[in-house]
Amino acid sequence: MTTYGVTGASGQLGRLVLEELLAMVPAAQIIAFGRDVGKLADFARRGVTVRAIDYDAPETLPAALAGVDRLLLISGSALGQRPRQHAAVIAAAKQAGVGYIAYTSILGAPTTPIRLGAEHAATEQALAESGIPHDLLRNGWYNENYFAAIHQQIEAGVITGAQGEGRISSASRADLAAGAAKVLVKGKGGDIYDLAGDEGWTMAEFAAEVSRQSGREVAYVNMSEADLAASLVAGGLPEAYAPVYANSAHATSLGALENNSRTLSRLIGRPTTPIAETIAAMLKK
Ligand SMILES: NC(=O)c1ccc[n+]([C@@H]2O[C@H](COP(=O)([O-])OP(=O)(O)OC[C@H]3O[C@@H](n4cnc5c(N)ncnc54)[C@H](OP(=O)(O)O)[C@@H]3O)[C@@H](O)[C@H]2O)c1
Repeated sequence: MTTYGVTGASGQLGRLVLEELLAMVPAAQIIAFGRDVGKLADFARRGVTVRAIDYDAPETLPAALAGVDRLLLISGSALGQRPRQHAAVIAAAKQAGVGYIAYTSILGAPTTPIRLGAEHAATEQALAESGIPHDLLRNGWYNENYFAAIHQQIEAGVITGAQGEGRISSASRADLAAGAAKVLVKGKGGDIYDLAGDEGWTMAEFAAEVSRQSGREVAYVNMSEADLAASLVAGGLPEAYAPVYANSAHATSLGALENNSRTLSRLIGRPTTPIAETIAAMLKK
């Protein structure tokens, strides 16, 4: 009986992965990991084993991972800490005898102009050095990333960014979760999946669709990376995050998030969720 482990299971992607897994394998074969197992109580009630894991507590990791045959390592959220954290999980997985790892990396790693890519490249390297059979899920951006301030933007009639004319092959979290679950169950190791949406779009096209659906005129205004970072800080985003966000926006203008492979829709056996559908869902919130 194969046991499937999912780290980051308490997060937005992880919860969707658990739903997909529950449709594929018995709950008794699933171990959901999170820092706070209380967040996973609903899955525990459905028969999933829940265990605490903290990437920052390396000494606890081998025992936490004991008995896992196949592991989905969902990347953590602490910027700058992830190479160390993920390396600790991979070392512990080796010690615990985990036989397979799928890892949520970034589209275009290791050469992406998105600065965050270096953290994923370091984890990909650690996986290669571990000798554990593994597959890489090089995820593009989520559709859901573009809505943090959507109601204010509609009110102001302006969406700002530094993405220029770069096309964004985004996919919904649910699409990427379905792909991750499929690979966790079926992946053989040695594969790289470039996971992105079927249809790319530009920020100007995004603003046009928001205008159409909201009935309010919303324009896209492009800025330099530095001006975008400054405006984000002025808007209240913490100083540590603004340059990271602005860099990824600028890198998008260079094509970092465009991918026309349609690997994800082939993997999940259905078209990915169009951005217009996510806009409709988000405008209702
Ligand atoms: N492709 C994209 O557009 C995109 C966008 C944002 C992030 N990401 C990456 O994809 C990952 C999953 O996305 P998401 O939307 O599910 O993010 P999320 O909702 O923030 O979930 C992050 C998950 O990582 C866990 N985690 C964070 N630090 C940890 C630690 N030290 N030890 C153990 N677990 C830890 C969190 O546990 P807690 O519940 O305990 O906090 C949570 O389960 C993110 O963490 C990030 O690496 C991708």
